Amino acid sequence: MSTGVEGNTGNAEPPAGQASPAELAARPARHRELAEGALLRGDGLVAGYVPGVDILTGCNFFLREGEIVGIIGPNGAGKSTLLKAMFGLLPVRGGTVALRDSDITAAKAHVLVTKGVGYVPQRNNVFPSLSIEENMQMGVYLRPKTFATRFEVVCSLFPLLGQRRKTKTGSLSGGERQMVAMGRALMMEPSVLLLDEPSAGLSPMLQDEVFVRIKKINAAGVSVIMVEQNARRCLQVCDRGYVLDQGRNAYTDTGSALLSDPKVVDLYLGTLAGSGETH
Ligand SMILES: Nc1ncnc2c1ncn2[C@@H]1O[C@H](COP(=O)(O)OP(=O)(O)OP(=O)(O)O)[C@@H](O)[C@H]1O
Ligand SMILES: [Mg+2]
Repeated sequence: MSTGVEGNTGNAEPPAGQASPAELAARPARHRELAEGALLRGDGLVAGYVPGVDILTGCNFFLREGEIVGIIGPNGAGKSTLLKAMFGLLPVRGGTVALRDSDITAAKAHVLVTKGVGYVPQRNNVFPSLSIEENMQMGVYLRPKTFATRFEVVCSLFPLLGQRRKTKTGSLSGGERQMVAMGRALMMEPSVLLLDEPSAGLSPMLQDEVFVRIKKINAAGVSVIMVEQNARRCLQVCDRGYVLDQGRNAYTDTGSALLSDPKVVDLYLGTLAGSGETH
C-alpha cells in the first residue's frame, strides 16, 4: 500500500522555478523539514470511504504548539475527511498521524480524547434533546469527577453556557449551538482542537464572534486546526494555512502570505471568499 509520501512526490508538479513559495512548502520533502518538532502531524495520508477510491491522496500537514492552522479548499476536496482520518473516525490506508512524535495513526476517537485531542464535527455536533449542562456532562463522560471544575473553566470562556445551563440545546440558535459544541469538546481539557467549519451557516456577525471565540480558546493554551468555507476570514485569523485540493495539500504558508499568493487568490479565494462573505 502506498504511504502517499513517495507517491506525492510523483504528482505532476510544476518545476521548482515556476512554483510559488506556498507551493514549494507543500511538497513532501519540504513538509518533512518544516514539520520537525510539531505537536500534531500527518504525513502522506491516504484514506477514503469506498474500497479502491482514495479521497485523501497523500496529504501532509502539521500543527505547532500554540498555533491556529486553517485548512481551506473547494467543496469535496477532502477537508472533513482529513479531520475524520486524524481523529480515528476513518481508517487510514497509508501514511501516518503523530501526536508529539508518538504514532496515533490507528488510535480510535475515544483514545485520542484522553490524549488531549478534541474534535467538533461539521454537522450534528450537539445532543439537541439534552440541556446545555447535560451536553457538557457528555463531554466528560470519561472523567465525570472533573465536571464542576471544567464546566467553570468553559463558562469563563463562554458565560452563556452557564447562564442558560438548563436550556435544551435543540431550542438554541445556530451560533449558540456552535458554542455548546466547542464547549463540550473543551470539557476534556484538550491541547489540540479540530474544528470542522465552525462558522458555517451563521450570519456574518455571528461568524466574526466564532473567530473571536477561537482566538480566545487558542489564547487559553489550545492549539487549533480549523477547516473553513469562509476562506478569506479563516486566513486572516490563522497563523498558517493549507489549501487542500483533490485530497492533498497543494499550498501552505502563513495566512497573510496565502491571502496575497496570486495563484491561491485566483484559484481558491475568488469564489470561496465571495461565497463566505456575501451571506
Ligand atoms: N460517508 C461517505 N461515504 C462516501 N463518500 C463520502 C462520504 N463522506 C464524504 N464522501 C466523499 O468524499 C469526498 C470528500 O468529502 P469531504 O466531506 O471530506 O469534503 P469537504 O472538503 O469537507 O467538502 P465540504 O466543503 O463540502 O464540507 C467527496 O467526494 C464526498 O462525496
Ligand atoms: Mg466538509
